[in-house]
Amino acid sequence: MRTIEWSDGIVTTVDQTKLPQKEIILKIKTLDDMAEAIRNMRVRGAPLLGASAAYGLALTAFNSRVSNKDALIEELKSSGKTLKATRPTAVNLFWAIDRILKKIIDSSKNLDEIRYLVIQEAQKIADEDVKANRAIGKNGAELINDGDVILTHCNAGALATVDYGTALGVIRAAWEQGKKIEVIATETRPLLQGARLTIYELKRDGIPVKLITDSMVGFLIQKKMINKVVVGADRIVKDAIINKIGTFTLAVIAKEYNVPFYVAAPKSTFDLSKMSKEITIEERKQEEVTHFRSLPVAASGVEVFNPAFDITPYKYVSGIIHEEGVFFKKDFETFGIDTFTKKNNPEIV
Ligand code: MRU
Repeated sequence: MRTIEWSDGIVTTVDQTKLPQKEIILKIKTLDDMAEAIRNMRVRGAPLLGASAAYGLALTAFNSRVSNKDALIEELKSSGKTLKATRPTAVNLFWAIDRILKKIIDSSKNLDEIRYLVIQEAQKIADEDVKANRAIGKNGAELINDGDVILTHCNAGALATVDYGTALGVIRAAWEQGKKIEVIATETRPLLQGARLTIYELKRDGIPVKLITDSMVGFLIQKKMINKVVVGADRIVKDAIINKIGTFTLAVIAKEYNVPFYVAAPKSTFDLSKMSKEITIEERKQEEVTHFRSLPVAASGVEVFNPAFDITPYKYVSGIIHEEGVFFKKDFETFGIDTFTKKNNPEIV
């Protein structure tokens, strides 16, 4: 199930705000429409945000009517700024924009070559994500045993990526290997990415899944109804992993009950030169909490907090599953997360 495609100046994707009731296909033709889709979470999930931002720049390159290369580079820089202002937390969005701009700034290419280069690099970013997710799936599936009941939070599936998924990639790969597993998905208040998207994906694949509300996690873990947790990440920094709000609570409970807690993410989600305190945690609209699809669900006039992500320090993380292998707790406790950077990801140090 490929979530995003480019063809001749048109980006095709599904409007995730309407799933699972309606499968509305979006045909995005301009940078502004791409920025709107990201801002309003029609596309979402860290790796998909990277691919979407890359395609946003590709749309600028495709549609530009300027007559010299410097003007095109200026236009692309300005589009990069617009895209970077959409959502602040998932690093993939920033990574993809910087990767493309780095490729063209100071390049000796002419106007049409730059146009082509941007589109080609966006395609590469999308295709690499699919490969990375397949590899994450394969590496992570080795940690999954027959009979496992796996808890996942939010949606880290094909819909959060270009295809296959990170956390759901691990689950898919284990299932494809014939392992008899069951998934428990949290609904993921307030936008219900778990209830709407994770359940939609797993049902399509025929993988057994049960839905719980976020506050049921503690009870199920205490009752030994879950023996592994696998989640995705929006940004992996020096001291923590940053993921959908609720991940931290889940990780603390999992540690208390000795349930392994794994994070699955590609290298494009790593931002190891930063500490968690340097990262902006997105605050979203109050209405997402006080209303459900325009229906008020809280006493009117109440003030709310609505942070979209939280911060889970490494002491709660059993391992990080990435495209080159698994970095286990004992490794980052003994050698530090920096070793991981140098050993496996020299290009992002
Ligand atoms: O706000 P969203 O829906 O964009 O947040 C996405 C997440 O937090 C996902 O859980 C995620 O793991 C990262 S994408 C694989």
